[in-house]
Amino acid sequence: MQLQDNQHQDGPVESPPATALVTGAAGFGGSRLVRELLNRGHRVTGLDVVPPLHAGLLRWELEHPDFRYLWQSLQDLQPGDVAGHSVVAHLAAQADTPMAFASPRYTAMQNIDGTLALLEAVRRAGGVGKVLFAGSGNEIGRPSQLPIDESHPLTPHNPYGFSKAAAELAMWAWHRAYGVPAVVLSTGVVIGPQMRREVFIFKWLWNALHGLPLVVEGGRQTRDLSFIDDVIAAWVRVIEAPDELVVGEKFFVGSGAEHTVAELAGWCLEAAGADVPIEYVGYRPGEDGQREAFSTDKARRILGHAPQVSPQAAVRLTADWVRTLVQSAPEKPQPA
Ligand SMILES: NC(=O)c1ccc[n+]([C@@H]2O[C@H](COP(=O)([O-])OP(=O)(O)OC[C@H]3O[C@@H](n4cnc5c(N)ncnc54)[C@H](O)[C@@H]3O)[C@@H](O)[C@H]2O)c1
Repeated sequence: MQLQDNQHQDGPVESPPATALVTGAAGFGGSRLVRELLNRGHRVTGLDVVPPLHAGLLRWELEHPDFRYLWQSLQDLQPGDVAGHSVVAHLAAQADTPMAFASPRYTAMQNIDGTLALLEAVRRAGGVGKVLFAGSGNEIGRPSQLPIDESHPLTPHNPYGFSKAAAELAMWAWHRAYGVPAVVLSTGVVIGPQMRREVFIFKWLWNALHGLPLVVEGGRQTRDLSFIDDVIAAWVRVIEAPDELVVGEKFFVGSGAEHTVAELAGWCLEAAGADVPIEYVGYRPGEDGQREAFSTDKARRILGHAPQVSPQAAVRLTADWVRTLVQSAPEKPQPA
């Protein structure tokens, strides 16, 4: 069964609302997903280790009658925390690639052990219709063919990619062994307002808007960039899809095109209206030769999802937001 375009996105959902548990609810993607689900009439529990008073990306959501915040770690999740939810959207992770080089074991603990704890809680709770996992293009690294489609083996080339690939494999193992209703949604770099400030696009826009040089690690490696609204739209499509349409499936959500990191740096300069030098430094370990362009075919065919914002427009929209940050706090130091 394929969803029709008119079944989605234009207003609150008409089918029975989901009761969704969103892990990583205080983060960039999780907070946006919580907001969209509440706007569409679903009930949501958001789990995160961030204390509620510090969950700055959740604003009115914290007071919403259909929202409950669970200030707790994945690792301490109990079946009772999961019971009663029709959907679990698993976004909680140590999501920073550079940090994973410095702290590979911590990253593995968060991303692998945390996912296992969630899967065990789901398995023992029973009754969940689907469990969505936020996969990463880093799980592949150097593809054997482009565009990368959903059948591509996981071939990570860095510690972060390893941790996400191991977590994805756990999703499939628990699906095969116990029938946990796994769905994987994988993306390349996701950008947009409220994005993590550790991500290179944010750093470049910030530097460009401050008249500082852009530091580019490598240059020839490629990325497939997505705008946050497009990614959230795909997540919502999966959440609102009939379980039997999506369970056991993996979907890539991307633009379908690769762009060199050097090209992306050029877009950042253009979007910022800046004329600052680009300083090229060495590649991160494993990055020389990395390429990314994800097929959009399966998401289009099964979910009726197509990206609406081009990668270059996504950079421009993100630059508009970074500009407001720079203007409201010009004295703030540059990100590292
Ligand atoms: N942003 C991207 O470019 C991108 C690309 C591909 C995949 N992803 C994946 O999407 C998901 C969301 O990414 P994001 O950019 O929103 O990251 P983020 O860092 O903004 O959000 C992750 C959230 O998870 C929480 N968290 C981490 N470990 C936890 C634990 N053990 N228990 C409870 N909460 C925990 C963090 O506190 C944080 O709020 C991640 O799984 C990431 O790997 C992100």
